[in-house]
Order: sequence, then C-alpha cells, then structure tokens
Amino acid sequence: MLSFMGAKEAAERWNISQRRVAILCSENRVAGAMFVGKQWIIPCNAEKPVDLRTVRYEKQHVVELKPFVKWVGGKGQLIDELEKFLPKEGEKVLSKYAEPFVGGGALLFSVLSKYDFEQVYISDINAELVNAYNVIKSNVDPLIATLMEMQTTFLPMNDDGRKYYYYTVRDRFNHTPLNAETSVEKAALFIFLNKTCFNGLYRVNRKGQFNVPMGAYKNPTICDESNLRNISDALQNVTIVCGDYTLSKDFIDRDTFVYLDPPYRPIFETSAFTSYNADAFDDAEQIRLAKFIDEINATGAKVVLRQSNKELKTYGFANEF
Ligand SMILES: C[S@@+](CC[C@H](N)C(=O)[O-])C[C@H]1O[C@@H](n2cnc3c(N)ncnc32)[C@H](O)[C@@H]1O
Repeated sequence: MLSFMGAKEAAERWNISQRRVAILCSENRVAGAMFVGKQWIIPCNAEKPVDLRTVRYEKQHVVELKPFVKWVGGKGQLIDELEKFLPKEGEKVLSKYAEPFVGGGALLFSVLSKYDFEQVYISDINAELVNAYNVIKSNVDPLIATLMEMQTTFLPMNDDGRKYYYYTVRDRFNHTPLNAETSVEKAALFIFLNKTCFNGLYRVNRKGQFNVPMGAYKNPTICDESNLRNISDALQNVTIVCGDYTLSKDFIDRDTFVYLDPPYRPIFETSAFTSYNADAFDDAEQIRLAKFIDEINATGAKVVLRQSNKELKTYGFANEF
C-alpha cells in the first residue's frame, strides 16, 4: 500500500522549505503529489526533484511582475516617468525601497521585476488589500486553488448566473470577518471581486461594506497563476505592513528610495474615488503628509511624491525639477 506524507515532512526530508515543496508539487515536479483539502500530500517514496530555479533565473534575469489587482490611482503608464528617478548604474546605490501607499503596486512590481533592493517595505491602510499581499506571500497555493475553482465556476455561466454568483460572493465577503482562519478565503474573494466588479473599484459604504456593482468583463482572468507565483517569490523579502504611512518612518533612512502615491484630495465632498476605507484624504490629511515628507526628507532619503494634479514632486533630486 502506498503511504503519504505532508509538505512539512517532505520539507524536512529534502532539506528545503515547506513553501518550496508546495511550489514543486504545484509545478507537477513531484510524482504522485496531490492537493487534498487545503494541503499537498506526497507519496513517501517520492524523490526530491532537481531544483531548476538557478538555471531558470540565470537564463532570464527579469521575471516580469504585474499588479494582481486593478486599483484606482494605479497608473501603469507613469512607470517610465517614475523610473527616471530610480538609481541608475554608476550612481550611488540605494539599498532600500519604501512604498507606504502601495495600493495595487504598479511601481512596486516594476521595481521588484528589475531592481535588486536589499530591503523593501510596503504598507497600506486597506486591511483587505494588505491581507491579499500577505496571503500571496505566505499561502499562495491554497489561494490559487480557490481562485481557480471560482474561475472555472464563474466563466462558463450566463449573465444571470454570473450576476447571482457575483452578488453571493460580495455578500460572503462582507459577512466574513478577516482573521487568521479566513485570510486565504478573504484574499480569494477580494481578488475575485476586484477582477469582476465595475472598473476594479474598491469602494465601501459607511458600514465598511464593499458595495461596488458587477462589471461587464466578458472573460476576466480571475486567477493568473504564474503571475501570482512570481509575485509570491518576489515578496519573500518584502516587509508588508497594514497601517498608516507614518509607520514607515523607522524604515526610511538616507539609503532609501521612497515613492509616495497618496489618495487624491477630494474634489467634491462625496467623491467616490477618494473614499478609500470611507476616509477621504482631505486638507488636514494633506498637511499631515507634508509634515511627514519634511521629516523623511531630512534623513536624506530620496523621496518622490505623486500629486493629484499628476505632477511629480521630488525631494532629494535637486536638479530634476
Ligand atoms: C492612489 S492609491 C495608490 C495607488 C498605487 N500607487 C497603485 O499603483 O495602485 C492610494 C493608497 O493609499 C492607501 N491609503 C489611504 N490612506 C492611507 C494611510 N493613512 N496610510 C497608508 N495608506 C493609505 C489607500 O488604501 C490606497 O490604496
């Protein structure tokens, strides 16, 4: 009779991490491994696969990463503009990168694809978004399994079926509290809603409930497995914080490149586009931010601030503007 072991035992036997075991299993590199319930089970007589990572990375140095959610204010087209401010070859090497309003991480993922910062810090005040980053970092296999299941259920449905499914998911999302036990489920529901809702908006009502209607995408990619895996690898050395941008202060020093992309100042009191977590980034917030920028600027960090008038203001790059 064939006997099986869990990822933990395989990791101990093969002297690699549990995460690596899960990756090898999901890449079909472990004969007979099966994903059952929420974990991999592996035949006890399975051989440790040859690790192809070094070969792969030597061949293609750049693994292109894309944001895993569509996010208001996440302007992919600004990347080229912003990259002008990143350290270039021959310049003083900055070893740290901080993005305290990370959102969908349009610049972060470009940076992680191409640059080798020694330490990276990201944060956001949106707990559901930060949970998704954490789950991708530490628990990508069950996340992919759940998203795949949602994708294969949702895509073949007709309009009415999709509508019913979407609003059921939205309801489940709103009625499932976020905690250690629900983190994978909540990350999956969050990504599903982002991929299928109107314009990828994240908007909540006064009770904090997500209230965006369904979008009209014909064939949305709900589970981009290879991108999620690549992001998971890239996030391994990234510090992910849920909370206010000022928490990044201890991380920031003269060797840090800081990109600040705060919410827009509301044009109208009720502007939905500034209502992240139902908190508008009003004038008092703008003043608080200005003080913070002065403080981190004094450390000698290189700071880039994106403003709502689409101007980029830089500190520490004296000649650029
Ligand atoms: C304009 S978006 C950032 C977009 C991002 N650059 C991207 O590529 O998607 C601003 C982000 O700031 C977050 N935020 C709002 N208030 C914050 C605060 N006090 N501290 C940290 N993050 C905050 C919002 O949740 C939102 O994700």
